[in-house]
Amino acid sequence: MLNVFIPLLNYIKETLHLSPSQRMAPPATGSSPLAKVLTEDLMRGKDVLGIASLSAQELHLIIDTAQQLYINKFDDTQTLFAKGQTLVMLFEKPSLRTRVTFEAGMTQLGGHAIYMEGQLGLREPVSDVAKNLDRWVDCIMARTFEHKTVEILAANSKIPVINGLSDLEHPCQALADFQTILQHKGKFKGLKLAFIGDGNNVANSLMLLAAKVGTDFALGCPAGYEPNADILNLAKQEALKTGATITVTNDPIEAIKNADVVYTDVWISMGEEAQTDKALAFKNFQVDSKLMSYAKSDSIFMHCLPAHRGEEVEGLVIDGPQSVVYDQAENRLHAQKAIMSLVM
Ligand code: CP
Ligand code: NVA
Repeated sequence: MLNVFIPLLNYIKETLHLSPSQRMAPPATGSSPLAKVLTEDLMRGKDVLGIASLSAQELHLIIDTAQQLYINKFDDTQTLFAKGQTLVMLFEKPSLRTRVTFEAGMTQLGGHAIYMEGQLGLREPVSDVAKNLDRWVDCIMARTFEHKTVEILAANSKIPVINGLSDLEHPCQALADFQTILQHKGKFKGLKLAFIGDGNNVANSLMLLAAKVGTDFALGCPAGYEPNADILNLAKQEALKTGATITVTNDPIEAIKNADVVYTDVWISMGEEAQTDKALAFKNFQVDSKLMSYAKSDSIFMHCLPAHRGEEVEGLVIDGPQSVVYDQAENRLHAQKAIMSLVM
């Protein structure tokens, strides 16, 4: 039996050209400018749970790689980066951008993505979900209510786990946003990013990323809606290293004054729908043309989307010439392809 089986196995291996490792070997000596993405193992196997746990060097590497993927988007070698690999996408909340860009991204990298929807931890413990997925696939992307859920997935699997939005952070969004800032402003240092609105998951990730790459960050929010205290402290510590300033104020004009980049997000995040009176607290925080007039005249307007025109942003602003919201949406694709190519 054994004698028959081993030649058969060799025959299958030779016929299918199976590689000893699941990840395909990179093109030999960098015929493509993208080849180095595969040869550099600086982040291989790393979880991307938040900007908090990424070094400045890793953040720059992801953004630079995303920019390379954007510039070389028709380079065929991209289809080798995830060849034969599978991503599982777990969604506890709705999505347009995150779902489509991760799935399209895997297709463009030569791999495959599986979409799963539903609250985790109901049918079986989250740790068991992770231990099963670990045996079948190469990477998990999860959009969860509680940040703890992505941490449990990571703690119980050896494959990389990517946070596709939790109540604490939205790291893929912030990375795509800083790629967008680089495309429009050409630098990170010497810029002021003003976030007007709720001190939420998106604000947390932007604030940490700003601090780590040296962009001044000012958040204008109503009293009681300041960002998570631990994240704010971490951002202030990181800012000491880069020379960036981190300001939180309840005055939207103070926050937006002389900003190069103006950012807002919904007032009521997914999972907060029952907090119907929350919007009242934000009525003076709409980013309208008048508030925008306090920012620099060449400032850009950003929003992670989905947006509520007439609530956190005036239609004239989000649909006006300063708006770069669809560049941000496009860059979700490049930034996440960069993350997947670097960690898988
Ligand atoms: N910005 C963002 O994450 O969009 P989706 O909720 O549509 O994924
Ligand atoms: N803060 C929003 C972002 C959506 C992309 C939310 O969590 O619903």
